[in-house]
Amino acid sequence: MSSGLIIPLLVGYLLGSIPFGLILTRLGGKGDIRAIGSGNIGATNVLRTGSKGLAVATLILDALKGAAAVLLAQRYWPEGVQFAAAGAMVGHLYPLWLKFRGGKGVATLMGVIAPLLWWPGPAVYALVWIGLLLVVRISSVAGLVAAATPPLVAALLNKQEYFPLLLGFTLLVIWKHRANIQRLIAGTEPKIGRDKA
Ligand code: G3P
Repeated sequence: MSSGLIIPLLVGYLLGSIPFGLILTRLGGKGDIRAIGSGNIGATNVLRTGSKGLAVATLILDALKGAAAVLLAQRYWPEGVQFAAAGAMVGHLYPLWLKFRGGKGVATLMGVIAPLLWWPGPAVYALVWIGLLLVVRISSVAGLVAAATPPLVAALLNKQEYFPLLLGFTLLVIWKHRANIQRLIAGTEPKIGRDKA
């Protein structure tokens, strides 16, 4: 593999693997997020610490690191854009620093697709995500449905070159939500604003 592909892959992975939820909750004096609620390092679980500010900051930073990886690749390693995107997603989901136990990828995926499918991609994603959050009030449902939109939007925008990668991301996000899906089937998945996981 050429350095034009390895470098964006590594840069993407390093950026994606920054566990903002863990860092911010520690800095905010909330302890180890992995010992709270679902144990996930994402914004939904950070919200369970009682801090909306930390949750919003986690959401934004998790999205920005995905966008930054792709934007850097578009600027410096254009042939490695998909490698940077893959690195960022895998870094977030499986960070080396946390023994590969990372987040579930909903915010980072939105950041990754923002430069790839600008502007309809992130717009559709955000609308579906926020809309379902408001209506259903179950974060995993909103996130899972939003995460299914990028490959569809890529196809609609005639950006078929991104379809396999984005479909892979959707499947990875679904895989990382398997415990949530089991709870949804059992009817025990918590709604936003309630305790537990
Ligand atoms: O993005 C994560 C969300 O969909 C579910 O988070 O903490 O309820 O498992 P959590």
